[in-house]
Amino acid sequence: MATFYAPSSSPSMAAVMLLLGLLMATLEITGVQSIGVCYGMLGNNLPPPQEVVALYSSNHIKRMRLYGPTQASLEALRGSNIKLMLGVPNESLKPFASNTSAANEWVQKNVKAYFPSVSFKYIAVGNEVNDPTERQYVLPAMQNIFNAISSAGLRDHIKVSTAIDTSVLGTSYPPSKGALKGDVRSFLDPIIGFLVNNHAPLLANVYPYFSYAGNKRDISLPYALFTSPSVVVQDGQFGYRNLFDALLDALYSALEKAGGASLKIVVSETGWPTAAGSATTVDNARIYNSNLIQHVKGGTQKRPGKPIETYIFAMFDENKKPPGLETHWGLFSPNKQPKYAIKFA
Ligand SMILES: *[C@@H]1O[C@H](CO)[C@@H](O)[C@H](O)[C@H]1NC(C)=O
Ligand SMILES: *[C@@H]1O[C@H](CO)[C@@H](O)[C@H](O)[C@H]1NC(C)=O
Repeated sequence: MATFYAPSSSPSMAAVMLLLGLLMATLEITGVQSIGVCYGMLGNNLPPPQEVVALYSSNHIKRMRLYGPTQASLEALRGSNIKLMLGVPNESLKPFASNTSAANEWVQKNVKAYFPSVSFKYIAVGNEVNDPTERQYVLPAMQNIFNAISSAGLRDHIKVSTAIDTSVLGTSYPPSKGALKGDVRSFLDPIIGFLVNNHAPLLANVYPYFSYAGNKRDISLPYALFTSPSVVVQDGQFGYRNLFDALLDALYSALEKAGGASLKIVVSETGWPTAAGSATTVDNARIYNSNLIQHVKGGTQKRPGKPIETYIFAMFDENKKPPGLETHWGLFSPNKQPKYAIKFA
């Protein structure tokens, strides 16, 4: 299908019709399913998990990312049909890396005990582990969790991965030149190998907001908000109108150079805050997230036609996060009122 997207080719009408048909069939099957929302719990005024799960369901949000297991949230998810990405918190990496019984116990208690009434899809072993002394534990912890998942007989149902952020990129512009930082290679290359062998996706937190806020001279707001009417970055045969695709394709380029050409990326966090930073208005957050939901039904230039599984950060404003920008990423207020109108289906 990729060749039909090359601007140099001029496909026949029949080919276009065929392509449209295929695309629509794909969208019908997977389009609605590709959006999830991160359920962060760093607030002291959040609704109880049962009400949160009900709020996901009534808004047709079909996927959830949890940063760590709580028995109340896992109980609430039983029978909900919400597909779950469950995190292993950073603090557990070191014990799980060295202690197979601890990894087994965690899987038995938090996964096996709830399977299949909770629809686990991924275990995210660590989130944005950027501390060089902590990084050594990520792959061994992934391996021990993977082995525990396998012994529990769940290997065909649940993929084990880890969530990175785009600071692992040394080069991100233009997207085709995307490459990992030199000092990240020894950490990520073996993880990439592990994911390739196990047909698991890499999880990536991708924030056009931070790229924009950090470089307003070179990055326009419309490019960050998916509202640019025309191509902003021409990169060989690919024209980019939005920064989200450009960042994702820079990651794909980096993976290709590190033995991960076959990997899929799941966007495990993205979003736009409503206050306390640059261009952080309720309206910009609504525009970013609404456009994102429509946009991810298609693919990026490097992965055309493939819906991008994407988790919006976050469900609620979390008042126990560091004051300022961090507390304003919610789609909903803690009283369950939407901060702005947005449709997931
Ligand atoms: C390994 O984990 C098990 C289960 O949590 C625990 O009982 C044991 O003490 C741990 N071993 C070490 C050496 O920490
Ligand atoms: C642990 O995770 C948080 C986010 O959940 C991240 O900000 C932090 O940098 C991570 N810790 C380490 C040691 O990498």
